[in-house]
Amino acid sequence: MTDLRGTSLLCSGFQTLERGTIDVMEEVLITTDETGSISSFLRPGEEGYDAAVNTARREGTLEALGEGTYLLPGMIDMHVHAPQYPQMGLALDVPLEVWLNKYTFPLEARYADAEFARRSYRVLVDDLTANGTTTVVYFTTIHEEATRILVDTCLDKGQRAIIGKVAMDDATQCPDYYRDETANESIEGTRRVIEYIRSHPDNAAGLVQPTISPRFIPSCTDASLGGLGELTREYGCYVHTHASEGDWEHNYVIERLGMTDTESLDHFGLLGRLSVLAHSVFLTPSDIETIVAREAAVAHCPISNTYFSGAVFPLRAALEKGVHVGIGTDIAGGPNASVFAEMRMAIMGSRMVESGTDARKAPEERGFGSTTRIDFRDAFYLATTGGGIALDLPIGNFSPGNHFDAVAISTTAENGTIRLWDEVDGGEGVLQKIVYTASRPNIASVWVAGRQIHGE
Ligand code: GUN
Ligand code: FE
Repeated sequence: MTDLRGTSLLCSGFQTLERGTIDVMEEVLITTDETGSISSFLRPGEEGYDAAVNTARREGTLEALGEGTYLLPGMIDMHVHAPQYPQMGLALDVPLEVWLNKYTFPLEARYADAEFARRSYRVLVDDLTANGTTTVVYFTTIHEEATRILVDTCLDKGQRAIIGKVAMDDATQCPDYYRDETANESIEGTRRVIEYIRSHPDNAAGLVQPTISPRFIPSCTDASLGGLGELTREYGCYVHTHASEGDWEHNYVIERLGMTDTESLDHFGLLGRLSVLAHSVFLTPSDIETIVAREAAVAHCPISNTYFSGAVFPLRAALEKGVHVGIGTDIAGGPNASVFAEMRMAIMGSRMVESGTDARKAPEERGFGSTTRIDFRDAFYLATTGGGIALDLPIGNFSPGNHFDAVAISTTAENGTIRLWDEVDGGEGVLQKIVYTASRPNIASVWVAGRQIHGE
């Protein structure tokens, strides 16, 4: 394991500082301070580069990635249900409202058992890390102890995380066996978890941040939503919820409150710079304006949306209107634990929207056309810099001042799935191949704040 705090790393790789543009990093020198923040980023030929390489070499703090290994910013997963990992790859045969009651609530209820929570959360955090994910926004369950266990697990293993206890108290929508007993319980339980995270002795650097997590509006009473809105103001912390995910949910909220999810969240004080709205497939034009005005973010979950949304999030339009968007796996609504798989689906979904799907129609009438398309550059942006902006965290690229959160991709791993050819590959095409073909054996090393948390 190579701890990169207090070292200078000589490496090649890729980052994207701006959507649509790839920075091909060749033999750059990234220096990280003792806290894991990037203190300088130098390219060959830049003033100070040679001197910095020589100094680091002399002082024994020079590290280097091997030939065929490329550095990328760590992947940011903006929407994960930690307790649902044991059912990942199961139970995708029914609509959301059936899925919750038939499969998901019974599984989540098991996290009353701390031992089960400990076991399952350790596997999840290890697997996400091994897949190259360095920051995760997690829902847990209604249980405070199990939520504290996930916090402890992330701190122990060094994964950056935003964690919240699920709030769900509406007796008409949540089963008796799995529900906060009262609105006050939702609010005060959330408060206790926030306090636990903020005062955790191992969390001085703020690796784990708290979030307020109303599951979605249908599962919460007006009283709990209002109280959680006040708590958001009081603590100035993240809000993580689902919004306008599918027809049933979107229409249920309009019927109950006479407003869309976005309007309702805004009404209850739950929409701000640190709000993450998962899915958001059915946003209205006015919802989009509101989200842009509040500088809130959407977690785009393209694989899960295939199963539960019945439509495709208009990603490119949202980006062009200035919505902050990142990517989410939505484990286990999405049956995969890799942001790479999610990037591919985001691209493929946009291409299917572009071309359309009904072969009986003429090509020019079949789809929405090329204004809906995104490519591997956009997808990589969403998973890195876009996610960092969405979460208002100094992560997502190697700019000085950012945390050194990174993944080393080995393109020569024998068991891996990336194959490069000298005759064919070079420049940003290598990143394109990484985005499309990387798998777990290609994830050679993972660092969060300079601390190596996976690999050799
Ligand atoms: N809406 C409310 N709960 C959930 C959940 O667990 N997963 C998804 N995808 N949507 C939800
Ligand atoms: Fe979800």
